[in-house]
Amino acid sequence: MMSNDFIHQAGFLHGGDYNPDQWLDRKDILEEDIRLMHQAHVNCVSVGIFSWTRMEPREGEYDFEWLDEVIDRLWKGGIHVILATPSGAKPAWMARRYPEVLRVNERRERLLFGERQNHCLTSPVYREKVRAIDTALAERYAAHPAVILWHISNEFGGTCHCENCQAAFRNWLRKKYGTLQELNRRWCTGVWNQWYTEWEQVESPSPLGEMSCVSLRVDWQRFMSETCADFIRMEKQAVQSAAVKLPVTANLMERFWDYDYFALAETLDVVSWDSYPEWHSGDDIARAAEFAMNHDIMRSLKKAPFLLMESTPSQVNWKNVNKLKKPGMHTLSSLQAVAHGSDSVQYFQWRKCVGGPETFHGAVVSHNNRADTRVFRDVTQVGEMLERLRPLAGTPVQAKVCIIFDWNCRWAVDFAQAGLKGQMRYFDTVNGHYRALWEQGISVDFCDMRACTDLEGYSLVIAPMLFMLRNDFEKKLKEYVSHGGTLVMSYFSGLVDDTDLAFMGDTPHGLTEVLGLRVEEMDALHPSERNHTMLYGKQYEIADLCELCVPEGAETMAAYQQDFYRGLPVITRNHYGEGQAYYIAARVEQAALNAFYGKLAGQLALRGHPFADLPRGVTVTVRGNCFFVQNYSGVQQTVHLPCTFTDTLEKTEKNGPVALEPNGILVLTRTTKEQNTELMIDKD
Ligand code: GAL
Repeated sequence: MMSNDFIHQAGFLHGGDYNPDQWLDRKDILEEDIRLMHQAHVNCVSVGIFSWTRMEPREGEYDFEWLDEVIDRLWKGGIHVILATPSGAKPAWMARRYPEVLRVNERRERLLFGERQNHCLTSPVYREKVRAIDTALAERYAAHPAVILWHISNEFGGTCHCENCQAAFRNWLRKKYGTLQELNRRWCTGVWNQWYTEWEQVESPSPLGEMSCVSLRVDWQRFMSETCADFIRMEKQAVQSAAVKLPVTANLMERFWDYDYFALAETLDVVSWDSYPEWHSGDDIARAAEFAMNHDIMRSLKKAPFLLMESTPSQVNWKNVNKLKKPGMHTLSSLQAVAHGSDSVQYFQWRKCVGGPETFHGAVVSHNNRADTRVFRDVTQVGEMLERLRPLAGTPVQAKVCIIFDWNCRWAVDFAQAGLKGQMRYFDTVNGHYRALWEQGISVDFCDMRACTDLEGYSLVIAPMLFMLRNDFEKKLKEYVSHGGTLVMSYFSGLVDDTDLAFMGDTPHGLTEVLGLRVEEMDALHPSERNHTMLYGKQYEIADLCELCVPEGAETMAAYQQDFYRGLPVITRNHYGEGQAYYIAARVEQAALNAFYGKLAGQLALRGHPFADLPRGVTVTVRGNCFFVQNYSGVQQTVHLPCTFTDTLEKTEKNGPVALEPNGILVLTRTTKEQNTELMIDKD
């Protein structure tokens, strides 16, 4: 059984992290938990994530009896198990006996035992110990009918700077560049006399040493990313060494930039991730657009449904302000994940810890052990809904739009000394473009600049801030447009190659003909400064970054209204080959992006749903035959249904104006008589 086949058996997974090893002295709790799990419509829990010392109390001495009992009893109760490898937190005995497993930070200090995900991924001892316990787990549990998936480690993150890692980094560089001369050339080390004359002189980036060389820093991230991928492959091989080969996942996290997730995903059978939006802490609409994008990125890593591996059933305890979810928000945010391609709603965690750092983190079952709580009722409701939506599990999400989002580009933008120090905001910039589509209910895929990326088939490709180009990606974009595609590119694009050397010649590199312009300079604005532009008869603000472009064939759709570059283009359009390319030269406000993409969506028939004029803060996400109508506005809204739908959750028919509560959601399918009705498409 590989990839998401287990979904076809279990339907949507509903459950969460479960740590019964924290109270092995309370046998009654396991039985009580299984009873409550049924009540909450929970069908799957993740076990063993931080249980290494329970499994191997002394080096080489395994104790799995307690785990046998937990898994057997769960299975008897009909609960599936996602079994974790415990490599996310090492045992104390190991740290003491083999200090080399302890991570060294960028200041070259070796850390002490404690916390988690702070071991060295290149340490041979660590790898040997992980391989051994993973193999033992596989031999014992791979064939157990309860176990459906391996959960490798927990939220890989961070980097180690020990001598092992330094030596491995140098080897990696040797393989990549062949000679030191080539490394010196590609890193442009002549600047500030950073020449290397022996390989041993090369060190990982450090605030005590070199931090200014972007090429070094990007290569270090790539090296660490490949090291992590290699570590996952090692664990995967160990757990799949058993006769029964179960699929493998590793839980990823939002805004974890240490590793290139597109590269990590290649090692996984299923992508899963942990989602912790900060609801009710400012603008919920913006938050929803941000997390919709996170879900879509995760789905795009393997172009397949993913798993929501963790989310909180109520509140977290590690943010500055740990807010409760307001009524409705638990269902809304859980089904948001499902709408964007998740085949599960899993929580951290099932039962609250009695002690330790997460004592006050939300859980399905609190210290009071009650099922008559608001949180338990919310969770039960989601469980019931997932059962009703069961036919949707495993269904892919179809998108006509692709946004380029590349970890390498993110690193390069972040490290670059240009424009606005520390404020170039790659993720947020991409999210601005995404949001304009999300508000209209248009599905979006993401891809990066890997050689295998295929753009054909998309009606629209968006490349915001494509600062670093790699793998000749500009050629792919050019071909895409010449074959009839529509490209939107934004400022700060096509400036450096994959080792951060500036392209010599006009920029955006390789695309000036496609865009019908060249960029000459980029102005940065103080926080209070604004420029303005007119688009489709309305005035919009511009902040932060303003490029000065020279049109060479492109038509100007919007121009600067102030400063010495007044009249120069802000938004342009150019025909190239069979297609067209737009360029957005400045950071225009969100409303301008909304207007721009609103028009484009009509022209390219991007909407896959029939809802026109959605109220502010209400959006629609389409998965399979379901329309998820979601209200993030914080107030009641009226949605006008354009035809008769079946409300899949309430099992009733609905049409005309429908009231949607604050944090409300409707999951609608077309009634049989409406199935063949043409979608209403904006034709302007
Ligand atoms: C996650 C982590 C879990 C738990 C959770 C709390 O990032 O994987 O183990 O700590 O946060 O929100």
